[in-house]
Amino acid sequence: MLGPGLLAAMALLSMCTEAMDWNSVARKTVYYGQLEAQRFSKPGIHNYKTLTLNESEGVLYVGAQEAIFALSLSSISQELKPTIIWEAPQDKKLECIQKGKNNKTECSNYIRFLQNYNSSHMYTCGTYAFQPKCSYIDLSSFTLDQFSLEDGKGKCPYDPTKGHSSLIVDGALYSATLNNFLGTEPVILRNLGQHHGMKTEYLASWLNAEPNFVGSAYVKESINSSIGDDDKIYFFFSEHAVEYDCYAEQAVARVARVCKGDVGGARTLQKKWTSFLKARLVCSVPDRQLHFNQLQAVYTLNGNTWRDTQFFGVFKACCGEISMSAVCQYTIEDIQKVFEGPYKEYREQAQKWARYSDQVPSPRPGSCITNWHRDNGFHSSLELPDNTLNFAKKHPLMDGYVLPRQHKPLLVKKDENFTQLAVDQVQGLDKKLYDVLFIGTGNGWLYKAVNLGSRVHVIEKLQLFKHANPIESLTFSHKKKLLFAGSYAEVVQLSVANCSKYLSCSDCILARDPYCAWNRNTSHCVQTEEHDRPFLLQDVMSPDTAHCNDPTQNTVSMTSTKNITVEMGVTVLLPCQLASNLAQAYWTFNGKTVSIEQQVILTDSILSDSTLKVLLISEANPGHAGSYRCLSKEQNTWLEAESYYLSVLARPPMTLEALAPLENLGLAWMVVVALGAVCLVLLLLVLYLRQKLKQELEKSSKNIESTLVYPIELPKEPKSPKFIPSTMSDSDEKLWDPANYYYSDGSLKIVPGHAVCQNGNSPSPTSNGIPGQPLPTTALHSPNRINLGNIRGSNSNGYIRLNLGITEERPDYSDVTEELRWKLKQRQALPDANPEESSV
Ligand SMILES: *[C@@H]1O[C@H](CO)[C@@H](O)[C@H](O)[C@H]1NC(C)=O
Ligand SMILES: *[C@@H]1O[C@H](CO)[C@@H](O)[C@H](O)[C@H]1NC(C)=O
Ligand SMILES: *[C@@H]1O[C@H](CO)[C@@H](O)[C@H](O)[C@H]1NC(C)=O
Ligand SMILES: *[C@@H]1O[C@H](CO)[C@@H](O)[C@H](O)[C@H]1NC(C)=O
Ligand SMILES: *[C@@H]1O[C@H](CO)[C@@H](O)[C@H](O)[C@H]1NC(C)=O
Ligand SMILES: *[C@@H]1O[C@H](CO)[C@@H](O)[C@H](O)[C@H]1NC(C)=O
Ligand SMILES: *[C@@H]1O[C@H](CO)[C@@H](O)[C@H](O)[C@H]1NC(C)=O
Ligand SMILES: *[C@@H]1O[C@H](CO)[C@@H](O)[C@H](O)[C@H]1NC(C)=O
Repeated sequence: MLGPGLLAAMALLSMCTEAMDWNSVARKTVYYGQLEAQRFSKPGIHNYKTLTLNESEGVLYVGAQEAIFALSLSSISQELKPTIIWEAPQDKKLECIQKGKNNKTECSNYIRFLQNYNSSHMYTCGTYAFQPKCSYIDLSSFTLDQFSLEDGKGKCPYDPTKGHSSLIVDGALYSATLNNFLGTEPVILRNLGQHHGMKTEYLASWLNAEPNFVGSAYVKESINSSIGDDDKIYFFFSEHAVEYDCYAEQAVARVARVCKGDVGGARTLQKKWTSFLKARLVCSVPDRQLHFNQLQAVYTLNGNTWRDTQFFGVFKACCGEISMSAVCQYTIEDIQKVFEGPYKEYREQAQKWARYSDQVPSPRPGSCITNWHRDNGFHSSLELPDNTLNFAKKHPLMDGYVLPRQHKPLLVKKDENFTQLAVDQVQGLDKKLYDVLFIGTGNGWLYKAVNLGSRVHVIEKLQLFKHANPIESLTFSHKKKLLFAGSYAEVVQLSVANCSKYLSCSDCILARDPYCAWNRNTSHCVQTEEHDRPFLLQDVMSPDTAHCNDPTQNTVSMTSTKNITVEMGVTVLLPCQLASNLAQAYWTFNGKTVSIEQQVILTDSILSDSTLKVLLISEANPGHAGSYRCLSKEQNTWLEAESYYLSVLARPPMTLEALAPLENLGLAWMVVVALGAVCLVLLLLVLYLRQKLKQELEKSSKNIESTLVYPIELPKEPKSPKFIPSTMSDSDEKLWDPANYYYSDGSLKIVPGHAVCQNGNSPSPTSNGIPGQPLPTTALHSPNRINLGNIRGSNSNGYIRLNLGITEERPDYSDVTEELRWKLKQRQALPDANPEESSV
């Protein structure tokens, strides 16, 4: 039971505020409807999976299901050349179906490889109804040579869903794929053109069961090499571990490499790689026993020299109910060190893998041909001695493993499946180079994060697709600063930053987006490259809004006070929309801080919008009247976010005619200022209370009516279905039952306020927002007409009020509160934690 005279207490259902960077929160959330992006798709064509950029030509080539497109880089909705249609013939499709494959998802020709071959031709491969084929595309006419199709075995997977990676280097195709119909024969091979055909030995120690190939990279290590080293091709994949007996089924992430000049052995390892070595890639949080073993994608970031090459991998933790993903960063030097270290060996007697510690043959097995080799008479791999080659055949696995930089992931995220990533390097105003990571997820979101060295700051997350399709490919145009994302349904193009979404200096600085800076002259957040540097403010490493201290840049309070008048006994929810997911809400009542226990903060896990915080005033009484302010605090910057004046009328409310026409109802509503933002969970909360109270009602024949009042803004965009609880669809209808808005004697349950906005046209409180806060997506005006059917679909604001049947005795709110708290806590079994910067 809550004592009168108090603000009704609700538990602080807040996110944990302790410092935890193992579940980074995005500072801003951008929904599909707020995103401006160019899109491309063709009716009836799906699987826009293979994206190949040619920046000098200004073309994005897209390989999809039975089609290849050439799109303009400036605007991908524009096709530069007529589409190439490349279908698998009917008889092949029939064969595919007869072999038990799915007509709809497997027996088409899915384009899985598309790369530049020479100055006049591209090379492309497709699954061709489970009989992979490859061919050349003449770029001048943009046509496919359909009459001399080449066998795609080993160059392209049979199964369109299987992992595969290949690249063309000097006219040779290096490819990692599953080499047969059943997908049981993994291979890393080289063929095409005049080059020596090469492949991996078909041994479990080389490539174990069902590897998932996700990436490859060509590193020109011969350039300026003091030892006359060779160029190398690296492959990234996950496979079942051979080396851990207790983890028979466990996947491990791997990096493997071969030398470009490898032509195989003369007797041993004929036409097989003599330079194939692989090592484990580790991505784990050791002190939390979190191991990310399933590599999903790799992005290669080239530096000025090959030694600056860095690899970024996205990983999934294996198994279990919870989805957890991570990003780890590796340097080529760390990888090299492992390949130069000890080998692992299978010990027949002990039946396990252990470090090989005996003498290693010379020349060193698995090495490329270097000056040392040439000086000692080994001019090619064909001249290598048998003992070296035999050793190489038996010892492809290195004993050491490759640790990520800092020995931990850059970023860990629960409840997300990371699928893809792309990385850009951008120079901040401090002249430092920042890595910006763009990470795609399994349900169509894109995380944008900046690498601060020891950790990562997640600038924002963007909802790229209306439907929750996985992001299947990401390609980055460094020249145009554009990002392209492919999915089942479409390709999306977006620019690396939209700085104009930061409306105030503080918001712009706290964003820590290295692409954006605050222009003090124009008072706008702008993309740094385009503007005069002397006027710009930016601090990615340690943002300090004190630099925004020019009052004209950063006025603290511009929110107008919203007047709310309610009758006694009404329960009021006051929303507060914060600019950032990292900000915290602080409420004051008549200038005094409202203790944190009295605030209801609804978290991201329940509500898709975690920037909406709510203060609950249960059963208002005259003691509750006064001024309420919500302040947003982020990184020691305080901004006023919302301001209310609550009046509580002790007298019985004025009586309206029973079930007055909607217009009258609207007039009454008009005076109540509508506020806040999308809050589906409030509906949930209300539903819960209703249900609970209905149960109470059943227990008792008599009931006193109480009303929940809260201003709510209805969603502008329909939320992705994921966010709509299934219980909503049928039961929320009842919320809008007119009977809810009247007492049993027919009087309206909300008392008009202080006559604001009498004619219903003058937009009541200003919608100017304050600096530091984005404009609410819907202007703050009260609805001047209540149309119950309309409210849900429109953008209008309104109050939702509910009858809550309650027993004759005072309802045991504390009980309800307790349960609600419990229930909400249940829902956030793994709460989204604010990272340390938001800890108090
Ligand atoms: C940038 O963001 C603003 C505010 O969200 C939006 O109105 C605008 O369309 C966006 N522009 C682009 C190019 O995405
Ligand atoms: C395969 O599907 C296509 C369209 O989805 C249909 O036209 C065709 O008849 C199907 N073929 C078989 C053999 O079922
Ligand atoms: C590129 O390769 C194709 C296919 O082998 C060949 O027909 C064409 O002549 C080559 N073009 C040049 C410029 O070498
Ligand atoms: C882009 O296309 C041109 C031919 O039009 C080719 O010479 C060049 O190598 C291509 N660039 C890449 C990165 O493939
Ligand atoms: C190779 O070394 C020369 C001279 O030291 C230097 O000018 C050149 O930039 C280097 N090339 C690369 C790719 O590092
Ligand atoms: C992640 O993927 C797994 C299976 O691939 C799926 O069960 C899970 O729901 C996904 N999680 C999210 C948050 O999308
Ligand atoms: C500020 O910008 C305006 C144009 O927006 C320009 O005319 C003016 O010179 C700038 N001020 C300074 C000090 O450069
Ligand atoms: C709210 O009421 C106060 C007096 O109680 C008044 O001074 C103020 O102007 C009103 N605000 C609005 C937006 O009408």
